[in-house]
Amino acid sequence: MSTCCCGMGVTTDDPRFAELDAFMASVREQPGSLISVLHKAQQLFGFLPEEVESRIAHTMSIPLTDVYGVVTFYNLFNTQPVGKYAISVCMGTACYVRGAGRILDRFAEELGVQAGQVTDDRLFSLEVCRCVGACSLAPVVVVDGEVRQLKEADVPAVVAELRQRSELEALSQPVSARS
Ligand code: FES
Repeated sequence: MSTCCCGMGVTTDDPRFAELDAFMASVREQPGSLISVLHKAQQLFGFLPEEVESRIAHTMSIPLTDVYGVVTFYNLFNTQPVGKYAISVCMGTACYVRGAGRILDRFAEELGVQAGQVTDDRLFSLEVCRCVGACSLAPVVVVDGEVRQLKEADVPAVVAELRQRSELEALSQPVSARS
């Protein structure tokens, strides 16, 4: 039976599970293979909803609590969907006192989401983070993996830049791959 509890369209008969099953079969006997399996699952699904964690636990004969423990221990695993571009506003002390809160508010206004949420088109994730080690540049925002020194007024241009980047990437794909 097909069920989906995550609200993001991952059902138990999702065809991506076949690829995940094949991968689990190929690494199952290797020590420490759970991490590899979780990486593969996140690569396939974009994040690790409960359905995916349950499938992994069942197939690898590991208690679900153990799978969940590993997923929540490592920052690199996401249990919530993420956008194509992650925007992470540093709220460490140096950035905070130099206006990071206003920058965060401006991104929230521009994108129509709050910190911790993803835009409806799944293009942007808005997040906050702690000090990223660039205090001399404060306030900074990690934009798609790149640390940038930003002012509140820069926010619309950053969003427009990423939208344009996404459009260009879509245009560079073969017609058959466009959605
Ligand atoms: S507090 Fe933001 S980079 Fe250090």
